[in-house]
Amino acid sequence: MIKRLGDYIKADTKNTSFIILTGNRPELVYYGAKIADCENFDFSGIKKDCPFTSADDADNFPYLISSSGDGHSRENMIRIVSDKNSTLRLLLKDVRILKIKPEITGMPSSYGEKECILLKYSDDALNIALEQYFAFFENSDVVATSVKLINNGKNDIKIKRLLSLQLDLPSGSYDMLTLEGAACRERFPTVKTLNGGTYVNASYSGLSSNSRNPFVALIKKGTNGFCVESNLIYSGNHKEIAECGNLGGVRLLSGINDYLLDFCVAPCESFCAPEAVFTVAKDTETASFNMRDFVDKHIIPAALRRVERPIVVNTWETFLFDFDEKKLTDLCDKAVELGAEMLVLDDGWFGKRNDDTSSLGDWYENTEKLGCSLKEFGDKIRRKGLAFGIWAEPEMISKDSDLYRAHPDFAMTIDGITPIEIRHQLCLDTTKKEVRDYIVDKISDIISKSGATYLKWDCNRSVQELKNSGSLFHLFTLGLYDMLKRITDKFPELIIESCASGGNRFDLGMLCFTPQIWASDNADPRYRAAIQEGTLYAYPQVTMGTHVGHIPDWHTFNGTSYDNSFSVAALGAFGYEFNLTELSEKDSEIIRNQIVFYKKWRQTLQFGALTVNEYLAERGISSYTVADEKQEKAVATVIVTENRLNYVYPKVCIKGLNPDYTYRVSFRKQAELSENITFTASGSALARLGVSFPDLFTDKAIGGNYNSIQTRILTIEKI
Ligand code: DGJ
Repeated sequence: MIKRLGDYIKADTKNTSFIILTGNRPELVYYGAKIADCENFDFSGIKKDCPFTSADDADNFPYLISSSGDGHSRENMIRIVSDKNSTLRLLLKDVRILKIKPEITGMPSSYGEKECILLKYSDDALNIALEQYFAFFENSDVVATSVKLINNGKNDIKIKRLLSLQLDLPSGSYDMLTLEGAACRERFPTVKTLNGGTYVNASYSGLSSNSRNPFVALIKKGTNGFCVESNLIYSGNHKEIAECGNLGGVRLLSGINDYLLDFCVAPCESFCAPEAVFTVAKDTETASFNMRDFVDKHIIPAALRRVERPIVVNTWETFLFDFDEKKLTDLCDKAVELGAEMLVLDDGWFGKRNDDTSSLGDWYENTEKLGCSLKEFGDKIRRKGLAFGIWAEPEMISKDSDLYRAHPDFAMTIDGITPIEIRHQLCLDTTKKEVRDYIVDKISDIISKSGATYLKWDCNRSVQELKNSGSLFHLFTLGLYDMLKRITDKFPELIIESCASGGNRFDLGMLCFTPQIWASDNADPRYRAAIQEGTLYAYPQVTMGTHVGHIPDWHTFNGTSYDNSFSVAALGAFGYEFNLTELSEKDSEIIRNQIVFYKKWRQTLQFGALTVNEYLAERGISSYTVADEKQEKAVATVIVTENRLNYVYPKVCIKGLNPDYTYRVSFRKQAELSENITFTASGSALARLGVSFPDLFTDKAIGGNYNSIQTRILTIEKI
């Protein structure tokens, strides 16, 4: 609900209030827990259009925007060059309350908002206008914001920085939590104490990256503490800045990375910054709950929201490139026997691709390897009772490919500079329409021919050939969105799982088109527990592709049991990724039981509201509850990654339930654990007293799998 109270505008969501003071330069009066309306908020001390009486003054006002040459001397949101100078002074000219925010040209954005504030600014000397939107998602307690800069002047202007979000938070002591890592250890939660200075969280590879995800949490500690979280609906280079003001307070900025940015906006043209989203709550758990709820309801494509994801068997870590008709047929037969639901034919099915040195771009089947055409192959899989999914890496080209031989001009290269090959491949120049047309055409063709209902969209290198550098990174991202839009418009029910060397592009931009993302190539549950813990700060569990992989793990060499691996992988879009045909009868039975369990609890596992019971960083335990809307059915997972010696493992408080309900709690029967534990307890007792897990690291529980973790799954039903 948005209200005007004199010069103030107050927007309430279910649990929060966002108050701004309008004037020439609008200021953020308050963002926090919901407060009642007042006649005005003058008592808060924020004054309208105060003159700058000292050098520092401008830096002390919590403005909603800041630009080069506007009185500030700190990190700002907008930097331009116009008529050879960089002075931009945007003053507020108009305020409107809209029912629906406009679409952002060329970029995905959230949907289903309740109301929206539009602030219209202009710099009349330069004839530059800026529109700033704040849209409110009432039930998720999330705000989405974006800006559009319009050149109404007679000369070109160059954008050097145009960030999407500026939030000036009150003084206090803050921690900053970001999700950082690398391939196979993506999105590890990383906490820094803000202790003066400027903290940057950014990507430079052309992808949102596995090194630093666009999500940020700022946690104000102590009395009157709170947590503000932000994320960006963008898949290219991003930048988040937390700047400790010299006068106190912390400024949070988020948007497109200004690394090399020099974007020309001609007269009568405009530049849209992507949408940033933010929330505030009393603590990180609640703020992250809001973010997950928001992604589920306002980001995931509406046609695919809450559509059950099939149990897949993926060929990548099963065969790599080394497969033929017989191997694939045997794998499918075994998948059917175990109860799996979809075969995903990963890399190696096209051109003459038998390793990673060739064929990207040649999106036609290798009939020798498949034993038939792609269409016949898809039909054969379906006759066996499995759905069919297929892999492609659309944005890339191998030098050794028919496409490159016919169209070297399609590759992103610069005359006179030898291009860097990464994994023996080049990026396609997707800033060119004819290249995008080729990709959309070929990918549509393989989907139509094969009848695939799932597409794994991979991307295994960074953008390094920086021709027209000032706009290249952004145009590359816009090119990706154009292709994804055209393909998803054609195939609205296609489940696309985005992937990038594991989870190198896990962001809200991709989730607007692809409802799930391969979280990591690392399926070792000990690592996966940390990867998933980080991911769940910002994204709901069903957005994560999660598989039971090889044991011992291919990457870490750690051993564990299939059931430990399952307990971690079960919380996500689930599948298997190893050679099931080599399983013993005993292990086949274990997998069969997992599949029966997953199918029975799939709705709750994929879509249940997730509550964090324990964080790994705190006690070496990762635990979640996922519960249905009525809190009548729930599943809790408990992952203990470390055997602390001479230590009494603490009880785990199982939260996210109705305190007044009585539940039957049952431990899922795991192969190593023969005892059946079942008991009844109230939701409040489970949450406060907790459940104990005796005998975690006994010889029997370890079951010969040394270097192991211990896991349990609890099913919880209201009685
Ligand atoms: C990288 C992905 O992360 C893997 O899952 C697999 O699809 C390979 N690419 C295929 O080349």
